[in-house]
Amino acid sequence: MEEERLVSPGAGLEEIEESNIRPVRLLDYIGQSKVKENLEVFIKAARQRRDPLDHVLLYGPPGLGKTTLANIIAAEMGAQLRSTSGPAIERPGDLAAILTNLEPMDVLFIDEIHRLNSSVEEVLYPAMEDYCLDIMIGKGPSARTIRMDVPPFTLVGATTRAGRLSAPLRGRFGVVNRLEYYHVDDLVTIVTRAARILLIEIEAEGAKEIARRARGTPRIANRLLKRVRDFAQVNNHNVIDHETAKDAMDRLEVDELGLDAVDRHLLLAIMQKFGGGPVGLDTLGASISEETETIEDVYEPYLLQMGLLQRTARGRMATALAYQYLKQAPPADIAQRAAQLSFLDDLGEDTLHGAISRAATGDSASAEAGAVEMPGADGAEGQASKGEVGGSGNAKPGSAGGNSRLSVSREGLFD
Ligand code: ADE
Repeated sequence: MEEERLVSPGAGLEEIEESNIRPVRLLDYIGQSKVKENLEVFIKAARQRRDPLDHVLLYGPPGLGKTTLANIIAAEMGAQLRSTSGPAIERPGDLAAILTNLEPMDVLFIDEIHRLNSSVEEVLYPAMEDYCLDIMIGKGPSARTIRMDVPPFTLVGATTRAGRLSAPLRGRFGVVNRLEYYHVDDLVTIVTRAARILLIEIEAEGAKEIARRARGTPRIANRLLKRVRDFAQVNNHNVIDHETAKDAMDRLEVDELGLDAVDRHLLLAIMQKFGGGPVGLDTLGASISEETETIEDVYEPYLLQMGLLQRTARGRMATALAYQYLKQAPPADIAQRAAQLSFLDDLGEDTLHGAISRAATGDSASAEAGAVEMPGADGAEGQASKGEVGGSGNAKPGSAGGNSRLSVSREGLFD
């Protein structure tokens, strides 16, 4: 189901083919300012010392530019990028072969690094720490290990699930960066830049409408741009203006907050089949025919971020805000029920609360003024934005803090 989603943040063929709209240098990379500024310093310092850059872990929801950043890191270091992924490295020997074939200073990119199996991880530790491999020769009592050098290299690991990384692996990254959902303003710049490269004429308001519905994700923004272009072209509109963008995305069923049919299906299932929750992830997945992993990696982060979903110790709950947004009558006790449960997330919804309620009540004037803008590094979520060095203790997305602010702000909705 995910492959067919217009707002899926997963990379499709089109995105891979159109890698020409990806920024190649840090200077062209828009947004993620803290991550970018810190990387700039670390890269400059490593280059001055003629050392490889320390190993970098990039984590966060899909589509936010982890692969793009890995490419940029290699380009800025003047190094070659070698790319692979966790599931592709099945045996320790596979990784040993990759490592021994590296050139000095190469950047090795391992996507989905949380999916490396533990025997492969064991090979990675000495390679990351001391640039060497321990190779086992022979079997049984006569087995012995020999140490082999590997060229000095930088590992860039990417994951949507930093919490799934083993502590020893996480601790070996010198730079740990969490990528955040993008601000609407940054997405406007990204859409405008992509339109220029793809020779698509777009007005500022058209770009803004696409940016608003792109759920904070550049990959989705660029994909929406191309689909809107299709509608514009077939309807003989040479320029994408606000009306064209809005009509096209309405027809694509991507709503004002960037939710698509699957997101709405998920929220409605919690409301209509499970009384608003809490419902366990497995049960929820089975009820909407989705893999639990897809729900966790793809759908949930944005719904959590928007304050439409909550993760509690006993399962997922639709929030009062979700009821309002989807125009459903909330159960009378929803606020009490929510207040009684301990939350696993606190994603700064009170910065969004006003935006969502205005969008939900169709207040287009305030929406124009940026009411449905995405949260980002400057919002309440800001303190979770890290460009941290030597951090092994912070690699858990979307955790921390209690949720008291949330219920207070939400109660206001139903006054
Ligand atoms: N295209 C996709 N992500 C981008 C970014 N962060 N900056 C510029 N262009 C992009």
